[in-house]
Order: sequence, then C-alpha cells, then structure tokens
Amino acid sequence: MGRPEVTSDRDEGSEGGRLYALHCSACHGNYGLGGVGIPLALDDFLESVTDRYIALTIRFGRPGRVMPPFPRLTGHEVLAITKYIRSLHWADEPQFSSEPVVGDPVAGRGLFAAFCAQCHGANGEGGQGTGVSFSRPRFKSILAPALNNAGFLASASDQIIKHSLIQGREGTPMRSVPALGLSEQDINDLVSYIRSFQNQLTKQVIIKRPADAVLLQQSPYSYQQTIENVKKAVADSDYSVVREQLLGEGIIDPDEGERKQYVIYFANLEMLSDGLGRDPRIGLFLPGKIVIAEYEGVVKVLTSNPKQYAALFNNMALNDFAEALYRTYRTILQAAVL
Ligand code: HEC
Ligand code: HEC
Repeated sequence: MGRPEVTSDRDEGSEGGRLYALHCSACHGNYGLGGVGIPLALDDFLESVTDRYIALTIRFGRPGRVMPPFPRLTGHEVLAITKYIRSLHWADEPQFSSEPVVGDPVAGRGLFAAFCAQCHGANGEGGQGTGVSFSRPRFKSILAPALNNAGFLASASDQIIKHSLIQGREGTPMRSVPALGLSEQDINDLVSYIRSFQNQLTKQVIIKRPADAVLLQQSPYSYQQTIENVKKAVADSDYSVVREQLLGEGIIDPDEGERKQYVIYFANLEMLSDGLGRDPRIGLFLPGKIVIAEYEGVVKVLTSNPKQYAALFNNMALNDFAEALYRTYRTILQAAVL
C-alpha cells in the first residue's frame, strides 16, 4: 500500500472533480495524493471518515491553520466535492454510531503526552507550518493536523476519532494506536481527552483586517533620491533587491510619456524559506514590494499592508509572518524618508 494510488472510479470530468481541481488540488494534490495538505485518497482515511465529516471540514476549514473554510460553496457543491473525494477509493462510506466515547480524560492526557504530543504538539495544536522547505521535497510533508481545533472538533464525532486511532493512516507517520501496545480503554481515554480540547477553545481564531490597507510615507527627497534611499534601506535591513522596474512596465505603453512610478522588489533566503514553510499561498506576500511615486511634485513611498492577506486566510502562521513583514516595511519606509 503505502502512498495512495489512483483508482479508476474517480471522475475528473464530474462537477465535484472540477471543483476539487479548482479549490483543493493546489494543496491536497491531484487525485487527492497529498501535498501541503494531507492526502485525501488514502484508504485508511476514507475508511475512517463519513461524508458528513468531509463536508463539514470543507465548510468550517480549520480556523487558524492552513486549511481554509469554504463558506461560499453551495451545499450542492460541497456534496459534489465530497462525492468526488469518496470516488478516490473503492470502499463504501463507513457507518459509525453516534454514541459518545466514555473514557477518562485525565488518563488520556498522560497517554497523549507520552505517545502523541511529539507530532500533534503538547496541547494538540498540530505540527507547525507546512513542512515544506527548499531541501525537503513537497510530497514528503505530511504534518500532523491540529486536534485542538474548532473545525476538527466540530467535524469529527467521537467514533470517527476512535476509529482513526484504531486504524492509523498507513502511508503517513500516523500509526495504529493498538500497534503501540495501547488497550481499548487507553484509546477511549485518549478520545475523551481530545474531546476535552473543546472546553479550552476560548474563542474561534479570527484574524481581523487591519484598518490601514496601505502603508505610506511622504518623502522630502527627490523622486530619484528616494529610490536610492529605499534601496539603501533595503540593504541595511539585510535584504537584497531582486527586481526593480517602472510600475506597469510591459503593460503600459512606453510612449505615454514619463511616468514617475517605480517598484522595488526585495527578499532574502531566510524570508523565502520561512514563508514557504508556513503557507503555500505565501506568494501573495513575497517578494517584498515597495512603490515610489511622484504625483504633482509630491514624492511618496508606499506598500500594501501584508496583514490584509493574513486576514483573508485566517492562518496564525501567516499572520505572524505578516506582522514581521509589516514591521520590516515600516522600518524601510521610515529610513527612506529620514
Ligand atoms: C509520528 C507522528 C505522529 C504521532 C506520534 C501521532 N500522530 Fe496522529 N497523525 C499524524 C499525522 C501525520 C496525521 C495525518 C495523517 C493523514 O495524512 O491522514 C495524523 C492524524 C491523526 C488524527 C486524525 C486527524 C484528522 O484531522 O483527521 C488523529 C485523531 C490523530 N492523529 C490522533 C493521534 C493520537 C491520539 C496519537 C497518540 C496516540 C497520535 N495521533 C500520534 C502524526 C502522528
Ligand atoms: C491552502 C491549502 C489548502 C487548501 C486550499 C485546502 N486544504 Fe484541506 N487541508 C489543508 C491542510 C494543511 C490540512 C491539515 C489541517 C491541519 O494541519 O490542522 C487540511 C485538512 C483537510 C481535511 C482533513 C483531513 C483529515 O485527515 O482529517 C480535509 C477533509 C480537507 N482538508 C479537504 C479539503 C477540500 C475538499 C478542499 C477544497 C474544497 C481543501 N481541503 C482545500 C490544506 C488545504
């Protein structure tokens, strides 16, 4: 078995197949084979979860993590995607009772620390980032999902969690728990401990849009001097200019007359590999981008506020990155007009 294989039942041309390609495959890979998002075509995954679990996961996402919610898909579309994912595997949808699992969460807590925390985090917060880096191939990154997550806990019933523990996920680092030598009582204790995370979810993670969409400084220097100042400030902050050009170059007719709008792109290796390790949508932030413009004799330096994008995706790891980038922009802008 190992890595999931493509089954012949899947229907790429179906509505669900097309919606999957549009909304999911960038992270979960073509045919659900996995990428930044964990593989969905795994036998053990599809034998452990109901269609309702998949549909709720699409609807709620995993707030604060890379997996986004899809509030704008219609119910019909969510079901079409679910059906497509189900078609990636030969077996029928499993059936579980809705009985809650009764265990001892205190005992579960000890077991979790001993057997699970190394991957899922001390408090079930999940592996950090995407696991992707320059040196690590994309297809190897199966990071442990967050278990203390509102989206997960709202989607998974006790019996689904229990079944996931018993089954494990062959082809990923997640092992079958009985194979670790734990008893059914231990598993019940673990499930009730995971369920108890629900009480600690103080609030849903919701990253707010910043009030200022644009960072802007007026420059007392000439247009040309301000461009030089920005480049120096970029270098002083340990970044390199990776590209510079007139804004709209190649798009706007050069005969239109002289335009005083210049854009400087900057980055460094640390920033790129840090960003890449956090979220596949990091391309919206990178490289850094600063515009110098002169209009009616006034020179301005401006950049868009990266915290806007973080609000769009509601991923804590991206938010931290956006905060740091925001501070970098402020430093560079201030230095350039000083
Ligand atoms: C070596 C790392 C590792 C260890 C140790 C580990 N897990 Fe996992 N776990 C994972 C990975 C990776 C996945 C995602 C598997 C996949 O791709 O479906 C996962 C998936 C899960 C899921 C399903 C979550 C979801 O979103 O579907 C549950 C529940 C879970 N683990 C609980 C546990 C518990 C409880 C323990 C301790 C007994 C444990 N895990 C130990 C790595 C680990
Ligand atoms: C930007 C990347 C991204 C996109 C887009 C995305 N996902 Fe995910 N998805 C993830 C990640 C990462 C996880 C693991 C959650 C965690 O780390 O806590 C996940 C988890 C899941 C899970 C839970 C898997 C499990 O083992 O329980 C399902 C189901 C899922 N995604 C389905 C989808 C579907 C369907 C779509 C498209 C409608 C989609 N995802 C779009 C990144 C993504």
